[in-house]
Amino acid sequence: MPYEIYFATGNPDKFREAKEIFGKNAAGMPLNHFQFAHREIRSDSLEEIAREAVSAAHAQLGRPVFVEDSGLFIDALNGFPGTYSAWVQGKLGNRGLLKLLESEPDRAARFEACIAFNDGKTTRIFHGACNGTIAEKEHGRGGFGYDPIFVPKGESSTFAENIELKNKYSHRYKSLLALISYLKI
Ligand code: IMP
Repeated sequence: MPYEIYFATGNPDKFREAKEIFGKNAAGMPLNHFQFAHREIRSDSLEEIAREAVSAAHAQLGRPVFVEDSGLFIDALNGFPGTYSAWVQGKLGNRGLLKLLESEPDRAARFEACIAFNDGKTTRIFHGACNGTIAEKEHGRGGFGYDPIFVPKGESSTFAENIELKNKYSHRYKSLLALISYLKI
């Protein structure tokens, strides 16, 4: 184990998922929460947002820390809500988004996550993506955000109906595994 590592986020759902993934895949590397209330920059790039946020987090904390910026990109909406996913979830919610897709046959979408890790010397970037489709209506009560309307590719239930699917396919899971394998080197 190289050192104590912190996840800077104001989103308790993201931290809960990351803690579980660290617990299962990085035994002996405990994950700490840095409660981080940061005003993100506006950009169409998850990486640009994550890079800026991690420098701010490291400047405040002074320890090895990572942030994760993520979003849902819907093909029929030219990638909307993308990097604005948190804001759109708050304003429109899943029902509002489903309305935008009413009678739209192309339901393809993907979740993307970008982790930026800063150890005081360098910033490293790790990406994760999960392809899938947007359901016709909300299903399930697990997870958070867009989980009730997102069906990962090859499955028939939403993430919210079968939360175990997140530990198999999710954008967060994939980007965290990439970070963990880097930290283990
Ligand atoms: P941000 O990374 O803080 O900008 O927020 C990303 C937003 O995307 C979250 O607030 C959710 O609305 C959505 N999102 C990101 N990851 C997930 C996920 O795993 N499930 C459902 N929604 C997600």
